[in-house]
Amino acid sequence: MVYSVVVKVNAPYITDEEVQEVVKVLRSGNLAAGEYVRLFEDSFAKYLGVKHALTVSNGTVALYLVLKAIGVGPGDEVAVPDFTFAATATSIVLAGGKVVPVDIDLETYNMDPNDLKERLTERTKAIVLVHLYGQPADVDSVKEVLGNKNIFLIEDCAQSHGAEYKGVKTGSLGVASAFSFYATKNLTMGEGGAVATNEEYVAEYIELQRNHGQVEKYLHSVIGWNFRITELQAALGYVQLAKLDKMNERRRAIAKIYSEELSSIKLLRLPTEKPYAKHVYHQYTVWVHGDGVRDKLSEFLRVRGVQTAIHYPNPIHKQPALKDHLVLSKKLHNSVEASRHVLSLPMHPGLSDDDVLMIIDYIKDFFRDLKT
Ligand SMILES: Cc1ncc(COP(=O)(O)O)c(C=O)c1O
Repeated sequence: MVYSVVVKVNAPYITDEEVQEVVKVLRSGNLAAGEYVRLFEDSFAKYLGVKHALTVSNGTVALYLVLKAIGVGPGDEVAVPDFTFAATATSIVLAGGKVVPVDIDLETYNMDPNDLKERLTERTKAIVLVHLYGQPADVDSVKEVLGNKNIFLIEDCAQSHGAEYKGVKTGSLGVASAFSFYATKNLTMGEGGAVATNEEYVAEYIELQRNHGQVEKYLHSVIGWNFRITELQAALGYVQLAKLDKMNERRRAIAKIYSEELSSIKLLRLPTEKPYAKHVYHQYTVWVHGDGVRDKLSEFLRVRGVQTAIHYPNPIHKQPALKDHLVLSKKLHNSVEASRHVLSLPMHPGLSDDDVLMIIDYIKDFFRDLKT
């Protein structure tokens, strides 16, 4: 069927402010990393409450650099939730380590600390905790499992800009954290990423690695990469950062409408916000009960111009690319179930109340038709 998308599942929220700042940079003639990159980094570090925020090309590179900075290499195991975007795990392999997928809690879709306990070995070097869909993971329970073992806690904050755990911003809770500023993230630069950390050695490692290993102009102390961003990206990100809280509030307001209006539908399980969490709804993801009902609902919305998405159809331990890089001591159940039942509804600050109410009406129609 030919159709046009009327409502996108995710979209950047760009206004004249971003356009003007980016044009200003274009007209300045200074396009390579400079003033604006420093300004963004200082502001982002302050926003998160950390000493250092270092921009890099994307979230994958941010994860890779953090893993390298703490010394991940051959023989090291790194635990990750089994239900996340592939880059959480592939960055570990790129850094030379093995991936230990951990099952998830089905209420939050985040790593289950009890399952983590059973998968730690003396080779576990680190865990990468994802705050999936914008809901902070249960950091204290995870820290309790780690106890005083020598295991690094890294946060993957690609979906949690501005989210809070017990009143503290995600991204400031472990040795270092990785952010993505991809086009649809809560804060976007089109593409981009950052590492946030309080640790000098992590900051120094990344500073060198992202800029050809240069200690001064044309003097290179180590082999490094070019993982820099441009002034154009930083200008875009700086304007986005100034309105991040507002954009997150809009996401939360949209989530409230969905949750109030959809709560009577028995075949849906809606997202919850844990008492320890400030959820920033990078995604509004529902669980659709029943065999194949999720896919029928998605198709029903698609032909009406409403885009949905499955985050994620394949758990980490089923990714072909990772098959030779996994440590699997026992089966994973919840992540497999989640991959069959989750559906993300449209969620971005540009949605009007009318858009949301229209989607809700379609969903109600779908379940009414299903019954009859
Ligand atoms: C949870 C998670 N980790 C890592 C990444 C990788 O970020 P990027 O696409 O900027 O490389 C993403 C985003 O795409 C993500 O959602």
